[in-house]
Amino acid sequence: MLGAMSELDTNNIPNHVAIIMDGNGRWANNRGKDRVFGHMNGVDSVRAAVKTAVKVGVKNLTLYAFSTENWIRPQEEVNALMDLLITTLVNESEELLEQGVKLSTIGDLSALPEKCQTSLNKAVLSNPKEYKLNLTLALNYSSKWEITSAVKAIIASGMKASDVTEKAISNHLATAGTPDPELMIRTSGENRISNFMLWQLAYAEFHFSSVLWPDFREEHFIEALIDYQNRERRFGGVSQQGN
Ligand code: IPE
Ligand code: IPE
Ligand code: MG
Repeated sequence: MLGAMSELDTNNIPNHVAIIMDGNGRWANNRGKDRVFGHMNGVDSVRAAVKTAVKVGVKNLTLYAFSTENWIRPQEEVNALMDLLITTLVNESEELLEQGVKLSTIGDLSALPEKCQTSLNKAVLSNPKEYKLNLTLALNYSSKWEITSAVKAIIASGMKASDVTEKAISNHLATAGTPDPELMIRTSGENRISNFMLWQLAYAEFHFSSVLWPDFREEHFIEALIDYQNRERRFGGVSQQGN
């Protein structure tokens, strides 16, 4: 059954939801189109996810848009993804602002084409001071890159081994300052995390949806939230439900 807004417990909305947006290529292939067509249609799903997050009160939404591994894809696909990023930022900036969305990124942006970096900087500079949603795009991101960078930064800072706490490590990750996600959603039926937020997802609930990303809409997001609300989070303790 698909999720209906009325079934949501408004007192138990995750503060941070992270999404691995997967299945664009297969969605396009199913229609006899090339993979880029799937990516283009995936933008509608991004819009829907942002709208839903704002509507239900999710404060942080992180979307995995391009991994450090995705560079091995055909050059035309990589180019199209970078172009799509630029056009989407240009087309959606105003709407994001109106909805009270602040944009941020995680990942090594220095490897992105100059034009992408310029568009991202421009979008980030026009962020609202007060916002309802912190939308983070993971671009040229991978968790192993992020943890390696954190270790390098910690060593470079001259920190003593005895000062290397979990908090210190968190503070050196790209996500520093943002609470860890309580819920991770992956679309397209793949049950893996593909180098995404390995540290931050340590105690997240996972929701794997068979829906391909370009088909993902509000009802699928709500379905994931309801699934999350039906989980018992134990954090290493014992069940409170008497089981
Ligand atoms: C997700 O869809 C988008 C990116 C990884 C950029 P895919 O392009 O991975 O689609 P599938 O998994 O091949 O169907
Ligand atoms: C994960 O999807 C990366 C993004 C969604 C950006 P992939 O499609 O690249 O993951 P794998 O290769 O199937 O694990
Ligand atoms: Mg994929």
